[in-house]
Amino acid sequence: MIRPELSRREFLSKSTIRSVGSAAAFSTAAGWNNLLLRGQTHTTTDALPAQVAHSSRGVIATVHPLASQAGIAALERGGNAIDAIVAASLMLSVVDGHNSGLGGGCLALVRQPDGTTVAIDGREMAPQAASPEMFFRDGRPDPNLSQIGPLAAGVPGLVAALERLSQQYGQIDWKTALHLAAERAEEGFIVSQGYARVLKSSASRLRQFPSSASILLDSSGQPWRAGQTIQQRDLARTLRAISEQGSEWFYEGEFAHKAATFLASAGGLMTADDFAKYHTVQRPPIQTQYRDHSVLGFPPPSSGGVHIAQMLGMLSGYDVRSIFESSEAEGLHLLIEVMKRAMADRAYWLGDADFAKVPRGLLDLDYLRQRASSIDLSQVTEVASHGMPPRADLDLFGQQKHTTHLTAADAQGNVVAITQTVNTSFGCKMIVPGTGVVLNNEMDDFSISPGVRNAFGLVGSAANLVAPGKRPLSSMSPTLVLDTNGMPVLSCGAAGGPKIITTVLQLLVRVLDLQQPIAQAIASPRVHHQWSPDTTICEAAMPAAIVAGLEERGHHVDRIASAAVAQGITREETGELTAASDPRVESAALSL
Ligand code: DON
Repeated sequence: MIRPELSRREFLSKSTIRSVGSAAAFSTAAGWNNLLLRGQTHTTTDALPAQVAHSSRGVIATVHPLASQAGIAALERGGNAIDAIVAASLMLSVVDGHNSGLGGGCLALVRQPDGTTVAIDGREMAPQAASPEMFFRDGRPDPNLSQIGPLAAGVPGLVAALERLSQQYGQIDWKTALHLAAERAEEGFIVSQGYARVLKSSASRLRQFPSSASILLDSSGQPWRAGQTIQQRDLARTLRAISEQGSEWFYEGEFAHKAATFLASAGGLMTADDFAKYHTVQRPPIQTQYRDHSVLGFPPPSSGGVHIAQMLGMLSGYDVRSIFESSEAEGLHLLIEVMKRAMADRAYWLGDADFAKVPRGLLDLDYLRQRASSIDLSQVTEVASHGMPPRADLDLFGQQKHTTHLTAADAQGNVVAITQTVNTSFGCKMIVPGTGVVLNNEMDDFSISPGVRNAFGLVGSAANLVAPGKRPLSSMSPTLVLDTNGMPVLSCGAAGGPKIITTVLQLLVRVLDLQQPIAQAIASPRVHHQWSPDTTICEAAMPAAIVAGLEERGHHVDRIASAAVAQGITREETGELTAASDPRVESAALSL
């Protein structure tokens, strides 16, 4: 039985396929739109090939051709990979606003030509008046409140993060990119099949908010359809105001005041002062040795970096390649078993490490090997609860003081992996009137009450309860891999809630252990397990024999159309770069 995804299912629903030639087919917006409009769509359970682009000069992969083109245009203007990402991200805020945008946040990993790597945290922050009780009504937690409407939004971080990325690591001004995004917002973009599906399934909730309906629905209140054009004049003004006045306009100026007034009138509690207090944080990436490589991940408030490192640590005791070669089902079974153990730790230990005690011992190799010691390659084992890492109270992270992934690399050696989001489709569904900005619903990534599942079915503990100024725990996992000389060999990440973490694991295993090209790794059917519920999820394209192999080992398998959307770049020793974008959506990999 194929059952739909918990969330963002519209976006990922049974593969809508375009017949893709080369990246050149997408070199103009018209080319792309024609492809979409020709409507070469069908549904299939076969895995589709990823789209690929090669060059030693610069490459980018995003979920939208116009965003990838904006990135390439930034490289052509003399920008580096960071400038390309900033330009692509701004364009996504116009043409892909259901996934990410100025009202959302991001986590970015940057590798510079001198080998330094940094993690820039542009995650949303809870308002000062936030409290664990804010999502309770009549003594009971109400997940609706953390998912839709004025209480669901955290203070957005994307604008501050993009400005910081541009100013600290870019080499051209971001104003041109802001203007080009503004032009696109004003002129409009053609609605793709995927966007139309998300709009249709979000329409009844968008209708509750006139400021959202007036832009995202047509004059008769119906969702725009594929092939129609959406214009966003308010968003164009917002982008131009940021270009003229910088992020101050957003955090201390007109936007902050408009947003606070609007949210207060709707029963929210975010104030202009919350905007003024917003700040990005530069954090040291988590670095793990796996085989001959260094894997760099995002530290808390991402859970991805910690749990990917944990899963790799558990796998390090196995000859993963020969297990996969002798039986792919056994290989995937092994991955699912490590997923369960890591995700059980997530549910208990993880939260914003600036607030909660997140033990560094979660990455201790002896702890991980001991966690993995109960794995049985021939059958499922029960994972009753989280583990107890060493020095759990003493050695802590951070106290030393619906989403999209995009990635770009250039000839100088800059590589950026950034995942950005407003959380579920169109965030809290509220557009701040007069600004075109869709506010996130990232407060739902907190644990609103222990044991209460969020939109992704995740449970959490006290470590991830709401607190003023705290950042909700994220699964976003931008990841970079370096070789023994510190040269970048892989950049990857994904969208898809907790499936991000398990997708990135599978990409790492496929590229590093199975030595598959990045395009094959991205296209390959995926599995997912998040410990609770105790269900193994397989994509519909997973061959029946492999599913049978998992069932023989005792897995309760649920099939879904598709799981997560990933983008990646690999770099050869020769300097050749290959970008690959996920065939599960209407994505685009392009080269300079
Ligand atoms: O940060 C997180 O973990 C979530 N807000 C990500 C949401 C997501 O990936 C939705 N996409 N399909």
